[in-house]
Amino acid sequence: MKKLGVFTSGGDAPGMNACIRAVVRTALKAGIEVYGIRRGYAGMIEGDIIPMDRQSVSNILQLGGTILRSARSQAFRTEEGRARARAKLAEQGISHLVAIGGDGTFTGARIFLKEYPELSIVGVPGTIDNDLYGTDFTIGYDTAINTAMRAIDNIKDTANSHDRVFFVEVMGRDAGFIALRTAIATGAEAVLLPEAPTSIEGLVNTLRWNYEHKKTSSIVIVAEGDDAGGAFDIARQVKEQLPECAYRVTVLGHIQRGGSPTCQERVLASQLGMEAVRALQEGSSGIMVGQVCQKITYTPLEKAVKHHNQIDKNLLNMVSLLA
Ligand code: F6P
Repeated sequence: MKKLGVFTSGGDAPGMNACIRAVVRTALKAGIEVYGIRRGYAGMIEGDIIPMDRQSVSNILQLGGTILRSARSQAFRTEEGRARARAKLAEQGISHLVAIGGDGTFTGARIFLKEYPELSIVGVPGTIDNDLYGTDFTIGYDTAINTAMRAIDNIKDTANSHDRVFFVEVMGRDAGFIALRTAIATGAEAVLLPEAPTSIEGLVNTLRWNYEHKKTSSIVIVAEGDDAGGAFDIARQVKEQLPECAYRVTVLGHIQRGGSPTCQERVLASQLGMEAVRALQEGSSGIMVGQVCQKITYTPLEKAVKHHNQIDKNLLNMVSLLA
């Protein structure tokens, strides 16, 4: 391997910069030239490719976002787009890639590899959603849950003062990992996730019981992708059946995606970035590097994308048990 390309794609996640830094510095130390591909697959198609040296990743470890920027490319979903991307890589003599992203990024990488098997691609899990199989934690998740936790702590103060029920929507279009952890960490009264069918009646009963037992403020955490709807929708449905309570809705949104990565995040991102380069040096391709029980693991991209980690039922039961 003489030249390596690195890119971030899909939703950005805190820790991506730490990962880029690790990729660049590991590769340079091994005598490999490194190129940054900006704006993910979109930039690859346009040939937005820049050489990277030690200085280009100085002082970025602590920054949220991604210095390489990110995008969700529609053009890369087409055969023509991928052919253009392949040609741009060939122009630069890049045959090895580190792809930092989530399921969309890895799905793109799998198709790309099927069409151009002469390429080598190793994925690094970078998404706040933690919804990839083959790693206990994805880059971005720890920071996102800490950001959400602090925001919900603030909401609890005002919820208590005014005896209100708050519906707090957290990110997670297809997965409830952010919702579940933040619910436990903030002592929420209920959590609604896409992985568990939501019963509005059950939720109303819980809130009614709280109300009748002088617990006049409650926090309900709603994952963005819950089957019963978003936080506004759920609040409306509950209010119809329990009009005596006062309700407010907060959507935390993209504040969960930004911010300086936690210590755990920076360490994980650095480890996985370094391991991705090592995996390519060993001749691996079509895999994602992850960390399971503190050990580095390689998982085929297909498996990482298709077999999401399961929600821990014990953790889910804990929410209502401890509320
Ligand atoms: O990166 C994952 C994620 O944050 C999801 O939880 C969320 O649904 C989605 O991205 C939102 O993405 P965007 O704002 O880029 O459309």
